[in-house]
Order: sequence, then structure tokens, then C-alpha cells
Amino acid sequence: MEDNSYNKSKPIGIFDSGVGGISVLKKAIKILPNENYVYFGDSKNAPYGVKTVEEIKKLTFKSIDFLLSKDCKAIVVACNTATSAAIEDLRKRFKDLPIIGIEPAVRPAVNLNRKGKILIMATPITLAENKFNKLVERCAVNSEVVALPCAGLVEMIEEGIFEGNDIKNYLEKRFEGKIDKDVSCIVLGCTHYPFIKKEIVYIIGDEIPIIDGSDGTARELKRRLKESNILRSSDQKGYVKIFNSKDNSNLIDLSYKLLDLE
Ligand code: DGL
Repeated sequence: MEDNSYNKSKPIGIFDSGVGGISVLKKAIKILPNENYVYFGDSKNAPYGVKTVEEIKKLTFKSIDFLLSKDCKAIVVACNTATSAAIEDLRKRFKDLPIIGIEPAVRPAVNLNRKGKILIMATPITLAENKFNKLVERCAVNSEVVALPCAGLVEMIEEGIFEGNDIKNYLEKRFEGKIDKDVSCIVLGCTHYPFIKKEIVYIIGDEIPIIDGSDGTARELKRRLKESNILRSSDQKGYVKIFNSKDNSNLIDLSYKLLDLE
């Protein structure tokens, strides 16, 4: 039976600079299948990861305003770049709204307790921001963390290229001299990258664990909804509506395709 509290039936807004946040939406649906979701990808302005912090803040606020116009009860910033640049300002502006961000899964990487360096793939901005340095100081003081900025990768995924030679060639070049027996784990610190995991495994083999922050973010979303007593109590599967700032229906199709991808 549908809950009678209007507030609980409002959708959860999920935002990314493009189609990458679909990897987080997927995890959220797995953990909270009865919730309603509105997804907004700002593909018109992607990639964010090479823009200035001020530009990213402006674009993020605009995107959140769009989601709030859809009456969302909580917001997930499913973009590591936007989280690092704008989450503090967002929380200051929308004090009563649960806002959940995503950050590179440094702590889960350390918790794997494997010997060797942790390689973090992310956008240049995520890795340059203070938030990332603080995260490493907090969670990985005794580990060797190697940052691997991957400018150019988001653009390919936005074009619907997530397998094949272009991706393989990009990764081969980017991993050159970086992958050896001392790598304990790879962290995908950008929500677009889980969609190319198959190609990463193709290049590096399946012995090095590859992790990302989507699980932690989805679990944190559940915790925050519970804490605010706004979990939808219906036992029916919720809806998913996807919007994109780029006036191009291909991106909507790509988003649904990525949502269904195994
Ligand atoms: N998915 C975004 C992230 O997690 C990509 C940022 C970009 O547009 O460069 O960082």
C-alpha cells in the first residue's frame, strides 16, 4: 500500500555532470528499489573536471535547482568533481535538505588491507582539490596513494564509447609505467569510470581489485533517509525519470542503456 505521507513519496534527485551518475543511481535502486528517482545529467556542460571551481559551483547549483523544481526530498551529488567543488556551499544554502555526496573510495581501499600502492583514477579537479588531500590524510596516512588524473576519459563515455579500441588505447597509455606488482588496488574516483571497468580489467588483468564509491554513497543515502524519517514505505517498485541538459535524445537513450548494463 502507498504511504499516505506525501513527503515520503517525493523522488530522490540524483545529479552528475553527465551520464556517469547512472552508476550511482543503479546502486541506489538496488538498495532502495521502492524509492522514486529523478536523474539529471548536465551533459551540455560536461566535462566538469577541467573547469574552475567557481564554474563547477555555478553549474552544480543550477542543476540542483532543476532537481528541486521536480520536488525532490533529497539530493545525491553523484559526481566526485561537483562534490569536491560545491558540496559545502550546497549544504550551507539548503540547510534542511539531505544532500549526499560521493568521494573516491580511499577508505574502502585501505580497508582491503592489501600491501602496495593505491591508484586513484579521477578527474584533474577531484585530485587537485583540498577535499581529496584531506581525505587521503584522514584515511590513508600509512598507505602510498598515487593519483592518476584521467582528462579526456569522461568525453569518450559521454559519446557512448565504453568499450573498444579507443578506450583500450587510452587506458594503455595512461597506465604505462603505473601498473606493476606493487599496485594493491585501483579506485575509480569518477562516476563515469565504472562503465569502462571491463576494459580496465582487460588491460590490467583480474588480480587487482577495482572499487568505487557508489556503494558507500547508496548506503549513506539510505541512512540519511532513515534518519530524517523520509524513506518511502511503499512496497511497490519506484519510478525512474531521466533528464539531460543537452538537447539530444541520444543521451537519454544512453542513460537508460547504462542503467540496464550488467
Ligand atoms: N562523473 C564525474 C565525476 O565523478 C565526471 C566529472 C566531469 O564531468 O569531468 O567526477
